[in-house]
Amino acid sequence: APSDPDLVARARAAKERLGDKVFVLGHHYQRDEVIQFADVTGDSFKLARDAAARPGAEYIVFCGVHFMAESADILTSDEQKVILPDLAAGCSMADMATAEQVAECWDVLTDAGIADRVVPVSYMNSSADIKSFTGEHGGTICTSSNARRALTWAFEQGEKVLFLPDQHLGRNTAVRDLGMSLDDCVVYNPHKPNGGLTERQLRDAKMILWRGHCSVHGRFSLDSVRDVRARIPGVNVLVHPECKHEVVAAADYVGSTEYIIKALEAAPAGSKWAIGTELNLVQRLANRFAPEGKEIVFLDRTVCFCSTMNRIDLPHLVWTLESLADGKEVNRIQVDRKTSDFAQLALERMLALP
Ligand code: 13P
Ligand code: SF4
Repeated sequence: APSDPDLVARARAAKERLGDKVFVLGHHYQRDEVIQFADVTGDSFKLARDAAARPGAEYIVFCGVHFMAESADILTSDEQKVILPDLAAGCSMADMATAEQVAECWDVLTDAGIADRVVPVSYMNSSADIKSFTGEHGGTICTSSNARRALTWAFEQGEKVLFLPDQHLGRNTAVRDLGMSLDDCVVYNPHKPNGGLTERQLRDAKMILWRGHCSVHGRFSLDSVRDVRARIPGVNVLVHPECKHEVVAAADYVGSTEYIIKALEAAPAGSKWAIGTELNLVQRLANRFAPEGKEIVFLDRTVCFCSTMNRIDLPHLVWTLESLADGKEVNRIQVDRKTSDFAQLALERMLALP
């Protein structure tokens, strides 16, 4: 639906009043009504880097989800304030690994006698606590655009990787990019004693995958791929690596949101694409590329929007910008010093990956 013109005018006016004091970041999954006000758009990696590259702005308004705003706070100076327009915009995957659960897992690895050979690699989609744990134990953060480099780096530091919290990104990267077999991977279930694994399984595994997943991407299935191939002959299937391994294995191309956009920019006129990622982005790309004769469809019409990304809507953005312009600081995301030190170390290891 087109944005409410009154709200658009108010957002524009508030942003103008703030001028250089504000910098608005927008993740690719954000609604059109919000993305039109972003000074920069990107995938999680690009936005983390861009947040750090704006030292002049007093307010970084992060249109995305909580873990992204936390990472921006960790990477920016103490004077800069990171604002999340709706504090309820979390990420169900990030919530699947808590600090207590991960500490317990480390005890299990220690008891199995392998902790000193394990390097943690945590997906950006995790809380600052988990990032801190990762930094403290010699590990790095990764995003879907550098997971391959992060894992390669980790296997230079140690023999095994504990991959948190997205089992699918971990498995897909290990198998597709590093040539491991599915048998090299085990899944640690935080709700079971010892993760549901024997010491033997832990000792034999190369990749210990946390049992987390994305509730949106997890809904694409092998049938989604088969159905779209039957419906649209010659279609190219392009999916995000948060999809299940069988979906990724059946797809033609796999990559981050930024990769998906670049692939479609480079696609020839007349080509057909089925995209397996969040619906706001797919709809925007379908509209953008239709005039160039590129046919873009959503991989599975039964899959819905990411409900937490969608919480950031134009009314929340208007309220945020107007409050800041009136000198009222709202919805600041601030990671405490103790957590932020090791979390920063882990994030900087990612930014320094070759
Ligand atoms: P990207 O890093 O590819 O933008 O993915 C972020 C995300 O949350 C995917 O669900
Ligand atoms: Fe989290 Fe999935 Fe939404 Fe990305 S799409 S923010 S991983 S729930």
